[in-house]
Amino acid sequence: MNVNATHFTRVFMKKINNNLKVGFIQTSPVFGKVEKNIEKAVSQINKINAGLIVLPELFNTGYQFIDRKEAFNFAEEIPDGVTTQRLISAAQPRDVYIVSGIAEKSKGKLFNSAVFVGPNGYIGTYRKSHLFRNENNIFDKGDTGYLVFDIGSAKIGIMICFDWRFPEVARVLSLKGADILCHPSNLVLPHGPDSMITRCLENHVFAITADRVGIENRKKGETLKFIGKSQVVTPSGEVLRRGSEENEEEWVTDINPQEARDKKINSHNDLLKDRRVDLMHEML
Ligand code: ACM
Repeated sequence: MNVNATHFTRVFMKKINNNLKVGFIQTSPVFGKVEKNIEKAVSQINKINAGLIVLPELFNTGYQFIDRKEAFNFAEEIPDGVTTQRLISAAQPRDVYIVSGIAEKSKGKLFNSAVFVGPNGYIGTYRKSHLFRNENNIFDKGDTGYLVFDIGSAKIGIMICFDWRFPEVARVLSLKGADILCHPSNLVLPHGPDSMITRCLENHVFAITADRVGIENRKKGETLKFIGKSQVVTPSGEVLRRGSEENEEEWVTDINPQEARDKKINSHNDLLKDRRVDLMHEML
């Protein structure tokens, strides 16, 4: 088969029956080895045939910055930085959309961000809203709000790691029409993966959590063990795959994103329409 025919077959197979091939890349980055971490992730991307892939939070640098200055030195501008450009050049020939976490610098500010790229280049950036523990000493709080991107075959909502602990994030993304919550993560708390099942049930959406494995102990007395367990969850709360707690892996499955659109859970109840917004006003 020539190159064009192979490309056509791949695109066709990804679009059949409204299905979209989605997956996660679970990594084990080496702190500070940006080039190596990017190339490893790109080699994992090249192993699979997917239409949408999620990579972990801060996948290119590692997580445990000593201080803001160090993080600033590793941060990149989006979309001009090396990492975003490398992801774009990986996405184009594979005809794949990629959501991945990186440290972003912009006008003197520093964000824990997720960049979204696709076959036609840069699409957008989400900046993490809920910073976890020491991240509050390093990053500025995200200022993008909750973003949903329509890629035709699906509407993609983006949240980052600890955002799982705040159900409003998944809810607002769902109210904005997200079919799939893409969730780059560096999970250290045990409840993240199970909580994402609840986020899916609450909102009748898919969720792809891409986590990392490994240990970082760059700060005395602060050893971090990342729990892995990347996963794909359906709107009915089924975990199609949960990754290991120790190993890198890449995993892809077929889903039909349209399944997330009907919020009726029985003949009487609709998850979004039945909300008693009239009883919430005083709390907002
Ligand atoms: C986390 O938000 N990285 C735990």
